[in-house]
Amino acid sequence: MPKPIYILNGPNLNLLGLRQPEVYGKATLEDVAEGCASLAAELGLTMRFHQSNHEGQIIDWIHQARSEGAGIILNPAAYSHTSIAILDALNAFDGPVLEVHISNIHRREAFRYHSYVSQRADGVIAGFGTDGYLLALRRMATLLGHS
Ligand code: DQA
Repeated sequence: MPKPIYILNGPNLNLLGLRQPEVYGKATLEDVAEGCASLAAELGLTMRFHQSNHEGQIIDWIHQARSEGAGIILNPAAYSHTSIAILDALNAFDGPVLEVHISNIHRREAFRYHSYVSQRADGVIAGFGTDGYLLALRRMATLLGHS
C-alpha cells in the first residue's frame, strides 16, 4: 500500500466558506477535502486530510508523516508567517512539501508577504482559490512519479 499524502490545514480554515468569503471563497473545507479525495483517487494517490487551530497538532502530524507519509501539502494559514517550529518540523521530513495559500498573500497586508514554510517548500501556490489544493495534488503526483 503506497503511503498517503498528508494535506494539512492551519488555523481558521475550519471556517472556510464562512469567514471572509470575498477573500477565501464560498467552498467549505469539507468541499475541499471531497475534491482532493476524488482527484487523489484519479491520480492513484491516497491522502490524509486534517485541519487544526493548534500549532503543536500540526507539528505532530508532520512528525507522523516522517514515517507514514509520502509527501505533505500544507496550508499553514497564519502560522506561515510566524512559525519557525513548523519550518523545523518540515525540515525533519524527507519527502516533497508543497505550500498552498487560497488567497494571493503577496497582494495583501505586508505581514503576509513572508512565509517561513516557503524556505522548505518545493513549490508554493497562492491566489488560485481552493483550486490550489488540486494543483498541488497534481504536482505531488508528478513529484512522486505517479503521472
Ligand atoms: C492563507 C493566507 C494567510 O495569510 C492567512 O492567515 C490564512 C489563509 C490562505 O490560504 O490564503 O489564514 O494561508
